[in-house]
Amino acid sequence: MALGIFPLISFLLLLPVWADAQTVGNITVGAFLSADENSDSWVSPSGDFAFGFHQLSNNKNLFLLAIWYNRIPEKTLVWYANGDRPAPRGSKLQLTADRGFVLNSPQGEQLWNSETRSEVVDRGILDDSGNFMLLGSNSILWESFKDPADTVLPSQILDKGVALSSRQSETNFSKGRFQMVLQSDGDLVLATVNLPSKHVNDPYYKIVTAGDSNSSSPGFQLVFNESGYLFVLSENEERSVLTPTITGSAKDLYYRATLDFDGVFTLYSHPKASTGNGTWTSLWSEPENICTSTAVDASSGVCGFNSICSLNAEKRPSCGCPRGYALVDSSNQYGNCKPNFTLSCEEEPGPVEDLYEFEVLTNVGWPLGDYALLEPFTEDQCRQSCLHDCMCAVAVFREGVKCWKKRLPLTNGRPVPSHFGAKAFLKVRKGDRPPFCPHSPNQEIKNQETLILALSVLLGMSVFFIFILVTATCLGFYFIYQKRLKLLPKNEVVVETNLRTFTYKELANATNEFKEELGRGSFGIVYKGTLPTSYVGQVAVKRLNTVVHDHAEKEFKTEVHVIGQTHHRNLVRLLGFCDDGDNRLLVYEYLSNGSLASFLFCGSRPSWSQRTQIALGIARGLLYLHEECSTQIIHCDIKPQNILLDEHYNAKISDFGLAKLLLMNQSHTNTAIRGTKGYVAAEWFRNLPITVKVDVYSFGVLLLELICCRRSVDMESDMEERAILTDWAYDCYCEGTLDALVENDIDALNDIAKVERFVQVAIWCIQEDPSLRPTMRAVSQMLEGVVEVPIPPCPCPYAFTA
Ligand SMILES: *[C@@H]1O[C@H](CO)[C@@H](O)[C@H](O)[C@H]1NC(C)=O
Ligand SMILES: *[C@@H]1O[C@H](CO)[C@@H](O)[C@H](O)[C@H]1NC(C)=O
Ligand SMILES: *[C@@H]1O[C@H](CO)[C@@H](O)[C@H](O)[C@H]1NC(C)=O
Ligand SMILES: *[C@@H]1O[C@H](CO)[C@@H](O)[C@H](O)[C@H]1NC(C)=O
Ligand SMILES: *[C@@H]1O[C@H](CO)[C@@H](O)[C@H](O)[C@H]1NC(C)=O
Ligand SMILES: *[C@@H]1O[C@H](CO)[C@@H](O)[C@H](O)[C@H]1NC(C)=O
Repeated sequence: MALGIFPLISFLLLLPVWADAQTVGNITVGAFLSADENSDSWVSPSGDFAFGFHQLSNNKNLFLLAIWYNRIPEKTLVWYANGDRPAPRGSKLQLTADRGFVLNSPQGEQLWNSETRSEVVDRGILDDSGNFMLLGSNSILWESFKDPADTVLPSQILDKGVALSSRQSETNFSKGRFQMVLQSDGDLVLATVNLPSKHVNDPYYKIVTAGDSNSSSPGFQLVFNESGYLFVLSENEERSVLTPTITGSAKDLYYRATLDFDGVFTLYSHPKASTGNGTWTSLWSEPENICTSTAVDASSGVCGFNSICSLNAEKRPSCGCPRGYALVDSSNQYGNCKPNFTLSCEEEPGPVEDLYEFEVLTNVGWPLGDYALLEPFTEDQCRQSCLHDCMCAVAVFREGVKCWKKRLPLTNGRPVPSHFGAKAFLKVRKGDRPPFCPHSPNQEIKNQETLILALSVLLGMSVFFIFILVTATCLGFYFIYQKRLKLLPKNEVVVETNLRTFTYKELANATNEFKEELGRGSFGIVYKGTLPTSYVGQVAVKRLNTVVHDHAEKEFKTEVHVIGQTHHRNLVRLLGFCDDGDNRLLVYEYLSNGSLASFLFCGSRPSWSQRTQIALGIARGLLYLHEECSTQIIHCDIKPQNILLDEHYNAKISDFGLAKLLLMNQSHTNTAIRGTKGYVAAEWFRNLPITVKVDVYSFGVLLLELICCRRSVDMESDMEERAILTDWAYDCYCEGTLDALVENDIDALNDIAKVERFVQVAIWCIQEDPSLRPTMRAVSQMLEGVVEVPIPPCPCPYAFTA
């Protein structure tokens, strides 16, 4: 589950709010709030919730009237009034006697009102459950709990027909593509909405079906009770409980259930501030696999039109365009994909074979949009039929005899179970494809030269060269560092996490005076330790070899907290740290199966399926670091030594986030290039900005090592042409001799299509030009086989310009 997904920015926005004037208790008629940074907020008696204006993170001049948790650093909105019509700066909310709340823009235009019943409002109050109520002389005239946005809170009840609407994205609060409602028949359903209209499609998922229970009367309310249970209550008081047993206490935890912007309804908990520093943890969510939920006609499905849905490691939908298609709005990955060509029925010159080709996708399907079924048909007949049919956008060949032809736009693209043996032939127009194996006459010579050059570089770097490298590194880091600094508050507290602080003495005891060494890395030595008083038991303690300078203290804490905020099953978990005098230590979970390097290169070769799982795990972990955690983290040193394996051989990335820590001390120490020979991208050697694409490069090299079970540089090899793995792999790929890469590995040889796919992905990753390298999201999708891998261009070797 991706936690802490709110950008750091939105946390920072909270800071001014703390400093604000806050009103607690009754809000009298005539009271008002104005939309600006220094706005007042109204707080519940316990101080848990606040009501006021929230400044949008992507447009500082727009504000939402909202309710949020007042005591936790991560600003989390539980209710908002005007998501579709954010209030410009200077707008005013007033509590009136005759019309309840009225929100007007500075020009006097009404943006929202509380549509209060026709009785005189006496006062308003925000209670401790987070409900804002407008009270008449003896009744409730309006309450935010009856007018929900995307979240329900404990003690809130949703009546039949009252819908939760997701937002557009994490930071855009306009009504989004999903809705959840308890229907009149008692079914609790999730449905998509056809934006920009309000048309709600047929449900794609039923969380509770009235017919499932024995209850004589259907459900009429969705109840979220104080202990954190969600259930549908029927008229005769029977409960269909949705959520699993809750172990935490509502005294210590906040609960909320949110229809997230990606369509997944999720129950979250968060420790209350008084008991710790936490993030939102997902306790339960539905649907289990949103990508394979019911296909709905007249809607694109969970992803946009022509897009394909796949479930990521956090069970969240991830959407991608197939090759030949591109996002209509490149900033919205959940949006529609358009073909970059027109399917034309006009007479065109030349045979159709010269115009179109097929992109083959396995185990992907579009349940709707068929216009013809041809059967019995062979695979080849199916291809030919689609190729010569100008209406045909894709042909899906299934079950050995069935050929379904489909038209555009494609909807509800999703994975299909492999036992159908589904193969989709997606028609794409032949374009200027990247050059495939450019075997020019000079190629041989060039390769020779490159090999010699690469070898001489690797073997004997001149002092001058090292000097250039260090300078380039520093410049690269300076660039990232400056960029990051801008995001950080000048004199502010660090982000709070669940990290524990240790004293040096505690860790010296835990490691038995640093006795058992687990490994040595560029950042320091790692020792095994045991924490007697902790449930985690064994830990790995990393002692950083740093030199302290005056400002390092706060920076160290900030970085450590950035690392501490990451939660992903493919990342080694940081448990705590020690910052005691000159000593800087990090305490990590202990992983019993050691590093990937020893698993891969020493002893017996791991199985092909273990290797593919490990590759996928690393890809997901990197994707999280690059795109999904609250502060982007560039690892800078991906290599097998930095991948650890847990008892089930799940890959976990270690040492992430440390590149920056090291930099902080670089001005005082002599350091080598960040990254490790054989895994570093060309940017390091040049004066180019260091981006996430350096990790993609290293991942590509690592992927080849995983495929071939050998190191990226092998000088001992008796065959010179095999010394550099990246070159050898590309040669094998071009010559169609991939089996040489996995010789003696029966499992891999029997799965040569996947070997080829993985090699292709690796070649994309090791492209010289960083912009050609795919993102880790695309890499994951290609490895998973959800998206077909385009034919990679030659990863032309470093051309060192004199
Ligand atoms: C709010 O006003 C009501 C009626 O005037 C009063 O009974 C109540 O104690 C007040 N509550 C607070 C928190 O001031
Ligand atoms: C939110 O998204 C909608 C639809 O894409 C767009 O019209 C609106 O301008 C966005 N709002 C903000 C504040 O970016
Ligand atoms: C419905 O009731 C019958 C008999 O009372 C019982 O055997 C069955 O398990 C019940 N089904 C459910 C879903 O509760
Ligand atoms: C909430 O509902 C659960 C499940 O029905 C029940 O066990 C629990 O006692 C309820 N809590 C309260 C405070 O009503
Ligand atoms: C929470 O974080 C603050 C500041 O980082 C720290 O002082 C406090 O001890 C932490 N509390 C817990 C329970 O970890
Ligand atoms: C369409 O995309 C494919 C692959 O993404 C590319 O090879 C082709 O050149 C593109 N065609 C046009 C017309 O842009």
